[in-house]
Amino acid sequence: MISAFVFDLDGVITDTAEYHYRSWKRLAEEEGIPFTREDNEQLRGVSRRESLLLLLKGRVLAESQMQEWMERKNNYYRQYLKEITSADLLPGVQAFLTETRAYGLKIGLASASKNAKDVLNGLGIMALFDAVGDGYSVSNTKPAPDLFVWVAGRLDLPPDRVVIFEDAEAGIAGALAAGMYAIGLGPAERVGKAHVILPDLRDAHVQALLDRLPATPR
Ligand code: BG6
Ligand code: MG
Repeated sequence: MISAFVFDLDGVITDTAEYHYRSWKRLAEEEGIPFTREDNEQLRGVSRRESLLLLLKGRVLAESQMQEWMERKNNYYRQYLKEITSADLLPGVQAFLTETRAYGLKIGLASASKNAKDVLNGLGIMALFDAVGDGYSVSNTKPAPDLFVWVAGRLDLPPDRVVIFEDAEAGIAGALAAGMYAIGLGPAERVGKAHVILPDLRDAHVQALLDRLPATPR
């Protein structure tokens, strides 16, 4: 029996990838490092530190400088967050979350972002969540199962009663490693290992999705 739906944030509920890109881009320009939109694609779902390492492409910085660059990028990113409103919810999200609640399922968040709570507040949907796992909750980031396990613990549920919604390959891998169901949003090349694949949440309905899940997650 499924008792909870747990959502990734960036790329599932809202699309902050553009703001992350502009913030990293500004830092990269200030430091004379080439950084393109294509480079930015690799940063999807990846933690702030790993994003910086990808941007550096092998360049080595002292730890104190790494900290300063990450802080600077985050300050730029937080300027964009001030502008976030419910208009930034991806299509179908509000209706699907409302339907999920009405159906009686618990709702959780599992995001690698340390800014996740501020994003949820900006979007105006914080009150819909029973548990929020963010970039502060665990040390091991996706594809490790740790964050999903942490959120399931907060919801007081075993893994096979939880369904994860993810747009990143690493997120699907983490959900499966945790022994949970995975719904992939996006192209099959990225989320093909999920139990069910959808383009987005636009026409998603709770019962129809539950009907498509196998008897066990493994
Ligand atoms: C993920 C984003 O949700 O959070 C990544 O997809 C981002 O692009 C990561 O790097 C960490 O975010 P933050 O807000 O902690 O810098
Ligand atoms: Mg994502």
